[in-house]
Amino acid sequence: MRAASWAEPGMVIGLGTGRAAAGFVRELGARVRSGLAVRGIPTSRATESLARSLDIPLIGFDEVAAVDLAVDGADEVDPDLNLIKGHGGALVRERVVAAAASRFVVLVGPEKLSRRLGAKRSVPVEAIPFAAPQVRRALERMGAEAAVRIESDGKPFVTDNRNLLVNASFGEIADPAALHREILEIPGVLDSGLFAGMADEVLVEGQQALSAAGAAAS
Ligand code: A5P
Repeated sequence: MRAASWAEPGMVIGLGTGRAAAGFVRELGARVRSGLAVRGIPTSRATESLARSLDIPLIGFDEVAAVDLAVDGADEVDPDLNLIKGHGGALVRERVVAAAASRFVVLVGPEKLSRRLGAKRSVPVEAIPFAAPQVRRALERMGAEAAVRIESDGKPFVTDNRNLLVNASFGEIADPAALHREILEIPGVLDSGLFAGMADEVLVEGQQALSAAGAAAS
């Protein structure tokens, strides 16, 4: 099943960030080239530039209030379709677009599936630079191993919103929604990469689709 086949004329489509999302954007670009009239809202500067290179018309929330279909990747997925996202650094815009979407579809490989979130990946937390050391300490007090994300050149990774990411390893997370709310209460935090109860469908490469209703989707 190809998520790009769900794009219909006139739709506003959320364009995710990362390898899986880029595959979707390329497929959508091919459909646009064949005459499909859609408009995209990109979740990062990288995706914006990819979409522009494919001549996908782009808009922003100054022009539309709702997204018909958003397609994105994820870093970890649990059986309830809760997600860890943001290791591509775009979690804030990804949540804004997913929250506006009538249908939020996630594309992953089987290696991203996990019995409990946190078993495989840390939780990225976006913080304003001024607050980042305090955010790291607060996450450590909550029981995580936490560190500001550093690039290979030794400098901190800076998001499209000019903020920093603090990666927090909690181990297996019992209640992703509750932990997300707790993280948001730390002063200086903009968002966490815990996306609880947001995905409508998860398409796992080579497997049946998983739907939020719990049954395998067609
Ligand atoms: C971007 O910030 C992330 O949320 C990505 O969607 C996530 O990291 C998955 O990326 P890949 O498809 O590249 O694994």
